[in-house]
Parts: sequence; C-alpha cells; structure tokens
Amino acid sequence: MDGAEYILDSASDLGREQLASLPMLLDAPTHGMLEGVGVQPGWRCLDVGAGDGSIARWLAERTGPTGGVVAVDINTDFLVGRAGVDILRHDINDGVPPGGPFDLIHARLVLLHLSRRKEILKDLVDALAPGGWLVIGEYGARLPYAVSAASRSDIQVFDRVQDVGHNVVGAAAGQSMRWAHEVGDHMDAAGLVDIYAFEHSQTTIGGGTGCHYHRSLILQIDAPLLAAGITEDELKRYCDLLLDPRFRAWFYQFICTRGHKPRL
Ligand SMILES: C[S@@+](CC[C@H](N)C(=O)[O-])C[C@H]1O[C@@H](n2cnc3c(N)ncnc32)[C@H](O)[C@@H]1O
Repeated sequence: MDGAEYILDSASDLGREQLASLPMLLDAPTHGMLEGVGVQPGWRCLDVGAGDGSIARWLAERTGPTGGVVAVDINTDFLVGRAGVDILRHDINDGVPPGGPFDLIHARLVLLHLSRRKEILKDLVDALAPGGWLVIGEYGARLPYAVSAASRSDIQVFDRVQDVGHNVVGAAAGQSMRWAHEVGDHMDAAGLVDIYAFEHSQTTIGGGTGCHYHRSLILQIDAPLLAAGITEDELKRYCDLLLDPRFRAWFYQFICTRGHKPRL
C-alpha cells in the first residue's frame, strides 16, 4: 500500500509544521506514560508513524547503546534520528517491519487514520516480545471547542469547522474519533494485560502552538472542507482567529493507552 488513506500530507510545509508542533503539545504526557513502563537499556523498540522522530529519539536515549529504535513512517523527510534510531520508510498496512520482537511498540495519532486499525493492533501485539509493551496515543471523541473569542460568531465558526473537519471530511476518509476509547478493549481481546489509560488536554490561545497546529491541520484539508460546505469566508475567519490572542479553545482530548504481553 502507499499510505494513500492518510488524509494529511506529511511531505508538505504545512505537514512539517504540524509534525513539529506535536512534540511540544504531546511529548510531556507521552513521556509520563513511557516512564511508567520503565524503558530499559537494551530494549528493542518500534515507533509507528514516527513523524518528526521526537519519541523515537527519547526512546533511543534510554535504550542505548545496546538497544535501539526502529522508526517507521510513510514519509521520512522530516524524521530526525540520532544514534540508536533506524529510520525506515514503511507503510504499517504492509505489516510490521523487521527488527522485532519488540520490548516496546509506540504509535501516536496514526491508527485513528487507518481503516485496518484493528488488524494492525493485532499485528503489533504479535510483534511484541514476552513482557513487551504496546503504547497507543490517539485523539478522543470530545473535539476541540472554543471557550472565548471577540464575538459569539467567531466561536461558532471555530466549532463548525471542527465539526465538519472531523464528522464529515475526516469520517469520509475513514478516520475514527471513537477508536481512542476502544483501544483498551482491543488490547484486552488480543491478550495484553495490565491495561491502563489516561487522558490529557489543555487550553490553547490564538498565536500559541496549539492554535498554529489547528491552522496547519485545517489548511491541509481546505479543498474537502470547501466541498463539504465550509465557505471561503469561514475558512479565512477560522485561520485569522487562530492567530488572535483574544481567542481561547480547549485542545484535543489526548487518550494514551498501554498494555503488555504476559511473560512466558
Ligand atoms: C499525526 S502524525 C503523528 C506523528 C507522530 N507519531 C507524533 O505523534 O508526533 C501521523 C504520522 O503517521 C504517518 N503515517 C500515516 N499513515 C501511515 C502508515 N500507513 N504507515 C506508517 N506511517 C503512517 C504520517 O506520515 C505522520 O507522520
């Protein structure tokens, strides 16, 4: 496969901006989850859809020099490595890459985009070593929503673009915002134990990292948004709002779930 179902374009400037924002927004809670796992020197890790590589680098620092990380993505142009990170251009629909069995597999904001997400989760579980951990971070069903803005209609514009972006454009492309809430049950059905999840969110203000991220996301899907009924004026107002310091919104609901394979 060629990763064609991923609705965003990691090879574009907007895609690069989006990937560069994610570590600032989500690495702290993700590090907390991975610290709870207790990553050890010597571990073999896999990062699926590694983006800019921030989590792969963090893992390599802790697993080296005897362990290491395989970092895969359908587009590796912006994936920055370091010692201990093997970068591989790979579509996870084509199977788990070589280098396993893995002591830890991490995938953040990837499976929610992929229609074969349930099968892929099973493949990832199969690729775990006994005792190995699977950590999956996704956005949940509570979408970002505006809290304050210069006018009531600005708030309505933000909420409408979010609604159409996810419930029409994203849904048509096979995205699931329910998946985050189902991951634990699928881990359980696949035989993982000690399943644990947390959720994290924050508010973000116009001009801040979270708002720049929203802007880079929506501009990557401007054509399908317009086709779905968002007007040019709404799109422009949405983008202006995200740079307006009077604007404040709740960011995505980030849900991170982990479980491990029983030891033999
Ligand atoms: C939303 S970004 C998340 C990046 C990174 N995991 C993070 O959270 O910072 C999704 C990433 O998954 C990659 N991706 C999308 N479909 C993929 C596939 N089928 N196989 C591997 N990677 C994929 C994209 O290129 C992109 O880098």
